[in-house]
Amino acid sequence: MSMGVKEAIAARHSVRAFAKKPLTQDEIHELLEAARNAPSSLNTQPWRFKVVTDAADIAWFGTSEASRRQGWLAGAAAVFICCADLAHYVKDSQSAAFFYRDGKIITGETMDGIDAYVAREAAAAEQARFGACAMNTALAEAFMMLRAVEMGLGSCWVGMFDEANIKARFAIPEGMRIVNILAVGRPDEPEVYPRKRKALEEIVL
Ligand SMILES: Cc1cc2nc3c(=O)[nH]c(=O)nc-3n(C[C@H](O)[C@H](O)[C@H](O)COP(=O)(O)O)c2cc1C
Repeated sequence: MSMGVKEAIAARHSVRAFAKKPLTQDEIHELLEAARNAPSSLNTQPWRFKVVTDAADIAWFGTSEASRRQGWLAGAAAVFICCADLAHYVKDSQSAAFFYRDGKIITGETMDGIDAYVAREAAAAEQARFGACAMNTALAEAFMMLRAVEMGLGSCWVGMFDEANIKARFAIPEGMRIVNILAVGRPDEPEVYPRKRKALEEIVL
């Protein structure tokens, strides 16, 4: 029986120890499909993924300064380099905004002054655009991480990395920024640490 979302959320944790077994093409496809179906601002879908499965490349992640020598990464079955496509973001926001307005999908006051709003987005500094694209990409990855659990896989988000180093090795195109890398594989953990979480009272305002 398939796992429900509630169970997948409860079971998900950062996995940093994996069995030595590659992912199948079908599994990679399923993970990407989960990401592809995530929501995004003005339906811009700015996420892009480079899926690394080559053994030498994965070993490199475990030893390189590019991942601050997080040795456990060398055991991953795949490393997803999760990127934000800043180059297409503005144009995609513009066409979506006008599609919503012209197709009367979103109407009324929301769409008043949409031209000025879109122009502001287009003129925004790169860091602001990166923030928007990264937010969308993170959401897609959350879908992917939960789908991984449902498929019996584990993942760990890696935020400590050196962007220039990874971009150069994997020829990540101009106009893209790396948001993070995501290690994926079949969990083979000697120990699962209890998840520490703030109490509800601490997070509800
Ligand atoms: C933005 C972000 C950056 C992270 N960076 C790293 C990292 O570089 N290395 C690592 O081992 N785990 C990293 N993690 C995983 C967190 O340590 C982990 O999610 C957190 O401790 C909660 O544990 P859990 O995922 O098992 O619930 C990162 C997670 C996030 C969301």
